[in-house]
Amino acid sequence: MTVNPVAAALRRGLFTRVVGKRLLYYQELSSTMDEAARRADAGAEDGTVVVAESQTSGRGRFGRSWVSPKGNLYLSVVLRPTREVLPQLTILSGVAVARAIRKTTRLEPRIKWPNDVLIDGKKVAGILVESVAAGDHVCYAVVGIGINVNLDTSAVSELAGRATSLDAAAGRPVARGDVLRQLLQDLDALYLRAGQGQSPRQRIMEEWRSTLDTLGQRVRVDWLGESYQGLAEDVDETGNLLLRLDDGSRVSLAAGEVTLHDPAV
Ligand code: BTN
Repeated sequence: MTVNPVAAALRRGLFTRVVGKRLLYYQELSSTMDEAARRADAGAEDGTVVVAESQTSGRGRFGRSWVSPKGNLYLSVVLRPTREVLPQLTILSGVAVARAIRKTTRLEPRIKWPNDVLIDGKKVAGILVESVAAGDHVCYAVVGIGINVNLDTSAVSELAGRATSLDAAAGRPVARGDVLRQLLQDLDALYLRAGQGQSPRQRIMEEWRSTLDTLGQRVRVDWLGESYQGLAEDVDETGNLLLRLDDGSRVSLAAGEVTLHDPAV
């Protein structure tokens, strides 16, 4: 019998101030992103969380699909950040996912820029941030997180060899409720801290930078229809990747605009 991860998380005690104050649980949705956006448009409060057991049209960055059978975690969080915090959401959600996995499984996740969470070089979680603004005003953002907990990656041809799950990496069953609870608590703490100003944001950035696998590697990126190769030198305070191209120039690449490929050969 499948254990409802939301009920399990609540039973263990969910200690958050904003994230998860309202938790909505569905057996199946097209995508938790759509339901969260629908709720946000209807006025859902900051921190509303939408969780689904499975998704029929789960999506990832650049319109890719996100395979979403039962057994994993699929959630979207409605946030109402300030303009200063909005660009930090990619960073703080990556840090929150990495922390939650580390604390609940003792595995050591790494992040492939901007926010593919990897274990032993294979993708275990993905994060999608979508936002709606009106002029200078941020109406809301939706942070979507998918974590492979119990996924038979060999059964899905596009994932075989490239993705893993927490169960497989840990070599034992991992309780989804524990991961969900820890994730919401970490996301809550980081979201609140990011709202407290420049210096807390800087510390979150340092944690993200130290988890990034990409820095110091040669990479190939697709950007504005062209392919570039270079050395991933650093990230800036909004999470842009600073790439030293082979002609010696340095470009700043925004997460939403660039596809990053495995290290160039
Ligand atoms: C990526 O790596 O490209 C991002 C994947 C994000 C997947 C999650 S699963 C929960 C939420 N609902 C979706 O349809 N997508 C996100």
